[in-house]
Amino acid sequence: MQVAVVKENIVSKSERFPFSSFPNGWFALAWSSELAPEGVKRVKAFGRELVLFRTKAGVATVLDAFCPHLGTHLGFGCVKDETIQCPFHAWRFDGSGACVEVPNAKKIPPRAQVKPWLVSEKNGVIFVHHDNEGKAPAYELPLAPELNGRGEGPGDWTKPVHYGWTIKTHVQEICENLADISHFGHLHGLSGAHELESEFTPSYFRMHLGADGTTVDMWLYGLSAELSRVVLFNESFFAAKFMTPIDADHVELRIASSAKITGDVGEAEQRSNLFKDLTSQALLQDVPLWENKRYSDTPLLSSVDGPIIPFRKWAKQFYPAEQNG
Ligand code: FES
Ligand SMILES: [Fe+2]
Repeated sequence: MQVAVVKENIVSKSERFPFSSFPNGWFALAWSSELAPEGVKRVKAFGRELVLFRTKAGVATVLDAFCPHLGTHLGFGCVKDETIQCPFHAWRFDGSGACVEVPNAKKIPPRAQVKPWLVSEKNGVIFVHHDNEGKAPAYELPLAPELNGRGEGPGDWTKPVHYGWTIKTHVQEICENLADISHFGHLHGLSGAHELESEFTPSYFRMHLGADGTTVDMWLYGLSAELSRVVLFNESFFAAKFMTPIDADHVELRIASSAKITGDVGEAEQRSNLFKDLTSQALLQDVPLWENKRYSDTPLLSSVDGPIIPFRKWAKQFYPAEQNG
């Protein structure tokens, strides 16, 4: 009998989309504030169970979840200094995934190792790098000062508010929204929406939109992080959307948004909450459509559509080479 050798990224393909569910890039796993020193969290992403923990020294660490001993989920364990300890028999693993202690054993079994993930913590978010072929990151995420606001006074940004949803779709469908200019007016009521400028580079796709009383400058890094600078009736707002595939059919969408303080802090916080409501309202207009649409590789486009095909060509760089033939 022949046994097919199937690569992980092929297995993780959804029925709905002609590409892998798990593109390459940096993906958010949690807000930094969710993980205090010595905190432990169970996370599901890329169809895998992961454990996220913060060491005593404060380093956010991500490992594959299952203990190589008898398969316990390390997310039920606890942090001991710079390691995580399995709750079942107390084996301990460091940030590289290496087992550093088997209590009372003379030696550590040589294969006592779990897969470590490359972590980057910035903008109040814990990201991991996912690559189908185990390659190093092809791009880095930028710092966004708008997400580090302390809400202290004029010139500063309000403390970001966090919200989000689990959505039955693919990360690429959420990202394609930026290129789909004609839906902004009809679905979201952004009258007069038109492209001011757009740009495709290896690390980001930028779409700068103008509309009545509004400009929206959206920067998409990989297929996982959208940073939007919005000017609405002369007030400045910021929204970051982070898209992470949980499994072949679901995406965790995390949003952080804030408002620039121009005078009174309380008023800016009110504006920030209003902006959160507007952002949520727009997203909830998209969600049922994303969840129920059929992806077409050969869409029927018209002259009023945005750069949907250039976007799809740009997106291909985030998939394994074999899917880009
Ligand atoms: S299952 Fe983890 S130490 Fe035994
Ligand atoms: Fe939309």
